Amino acid sequence: MATIREIMDLPLSPVEKGEPVHFKNPPKAFYEAIGQEEGMKELMYDFYDKIYESTIAHFFPQDEEEFEKVKEKNTKFFIQICGGPKVYEGESQGMDLNEYMIRLHDDFSITEKSRIEWLGTMRDALADKAQHVDIDLIKEFWDYLENFSKLTVNTFADGSTYYAAYTQAKEEVAGSNFSEVVFGEP
Ligand code: HEM
Repeated sequence: MATIREIMDLPLSPVEKGEPVHFKNPPKAFYEAIGQEEGMKELMYDFYDKIYESTIAHFFPQDEEEFEKVKEKNTKFFIQICGGPKVYEGESQGMDLNEYMIRLHDDFSITEKSRIEWLGTMRDALADKAQHVDIDLIKEFWDYLENFSKLTVNTFADGSTYYAAYTQAKEEVAGSNFSEVVFGEP
C-alpha cells in the first residue's frame, strides 16, 4: 500500500548534460502488483489522458486514432520493460528495448522542463492508480523512470542539442540486469 503523500514525495533529480546515467529496469514484482496487463493498461491510459491536459500535450498526436496507437504501444512497452510478456518486442526491430526507446525520442526536441512535466504527470497517474501497490515497488519503478527519462532530454537551456549515445555495460546485480548508459561526445 502507498499513500498519496508518499507518491507525491517521490524524488526528482535534474539532468546534467553529459553525465553518465545509471538505471535498472523496473522489477517484475511491480508489474504483478499493479495488476499485470490490465493494471498496467489502466495506469498508462490514465497517464496519457493526463498528458493531454498537460503543458506537453502538443508533442503528441492530436488525431484520436494516432493517439490511441501511442497509448497502446506505450502500455505494451511498459509491460515488457517490467518483465511481463514480450508484447512490445516486434516494435523495436531487434534493437535493445531501452536503446530503441532513446532513439525514438530523438525525433522530438525534449527539454528538462518537458521531462519534469512528463514525470509529474506520471506521478499524478501513480497517485490515482497505484495506491494498492507497495511503496517500495513504486519507488523502484520511479527510479527507472526518473533516471531513464534523462536520456530522452536532448535540447538544453543554452539552445544546444545533445543526444545520448547508448554505451551499455550489463552486469547481473542481485539477479537483475543493471544497465549503465553514458552520454556520447557532443
Ligand atoms: C522514462 C522515460 C520515458 C519512457 C520510458 C517513454 C516511453 C515512450 C513509449 C513507450 C512511447 C511509445 C513508443 C512507440 O510509439 O512505439 C513513447 C512515445 C513518445 N514519448 Fe516517451 N517516454 C519517456 C519520456 C518521455 C519524455 C520526457 C517526453 C517529453 C515530451 C516524451 C515524449 C514522447 C513523445 C512525443 C512520444 C511519441 C508520440 C508519437 O508517436 O507521436 N517521452 N514514449
